[in-house]
Amino acid sequence: MRHLISLKDWSAEAIFEVLNLAVSVKAAPAQYADVLKQKTLLMIFEKPSLRTRISFEAGMTQLGGHAIYYDMSTSPMGGGKETIEDSIKVISRMCDLVMARLFRHSDLLEMAEHATIPIINALTDNSHPCQILADLLTIQEKKGDLKGLTLAYLGDGFNNVTHSLMHGCTKVGMNIRVGSPKGHMPADDVVERCNVFAKESGCELVVTDDPAEAVKGADVVYTDSWMSYHIPKDEEAVRIEIFTPYQVNAALMAQAAPDAIFMNCLPAARGAEQTAEVIDGPQSVVFDEAENRLHAQKAVLLKLSGVA
Ligand code: CP
Ligand code: NVA
Repeated sequence: MRHLISLKDWSAEAIFEVLNLAVSVKAAPAQYADVLKQKTLLMIFEKPSLRTRISFEAGMTQLGGHAIYYDMSTSPMGGGKETIEDSIKVISRMCDLVMARLFRHSDLLEMAEHATIPIINALTDNSHPCQILADLLTIQEKKGDLKGLTLAYLGDGFNNVTHSLMHGCTKVGMNIRVGSPKGHMPADDVVERCNVFAKESGCELVVTDDPAEAVKGADVVYTDSWMSYHIPKDEEAVRIEIFTPYQVNAALMAQAAPDAIFMNCLPAARGAEQTAEVIDGPQSVVFDEAENRLHAQKAVLLKLSGVA
């Protein structure tokens, strides 16, 4: 566990280790109050954030360390004045950990290649592993043992959160069904790889363009924005038309298990990927899910620092 770039690189054991640590950190935060004393996390952002920025910064404070917010657009690295390689070599001499939210996953891989400190993927065009660790923690809290549960994802399949959910679920043995329109299905290489993980962990991955097939009897119904941060605003009208059959509304929720929970990594648009009735209704766990970003990431910071 040197970096957290993608859950595809982590074993199921490593994922469960972090989840178990997150449970302890959440239950007894005071026990971890000084564990990262004098440590600095650099937080590099190329895109907006509410949850990721605040949970990492608050998490470092709670662990006794410090976090620096670093805006890519005002850095020599962002302006093309300094290479990623030189920048991360300098950062490695001054900080203890880096988290980066970048447009291009390839830039993150370049950082990891030249860094001598742990690098954490805080969302790229490819994946969002921190989100999925918090999601697994939330599902475990609400449903117990993850193995054998079924998660249905509805909406944009060619999406960072979807890809990471596929990696996370198939690693831990949770069935996952992705319901997405043709042309917006998950990346082929992710599907191929997750089929292998599913075989190893004894679960099933289904990718379908039929929302009813995806959601039937599911324990967890999950959706994400149709307008991810990198999607241009002028594509919105077309995307609404394409994704509307995949909206999570009361009729679709009724096809999941009666005690199914509803999740969305947030930010959410009521009336788009889900109705207000669903996200504000009794089956929704979205704010517990958001809170768990804090606890799961504190566990990641501790693991990658080698102190827990
Ligand atoms: N879910 C998530 O990553 O939210 P932010 O974009 O607010 O960080
Ligand atoms: N898929 C979304 C996730 C936001 C947390 C995006 O990339 O904007």
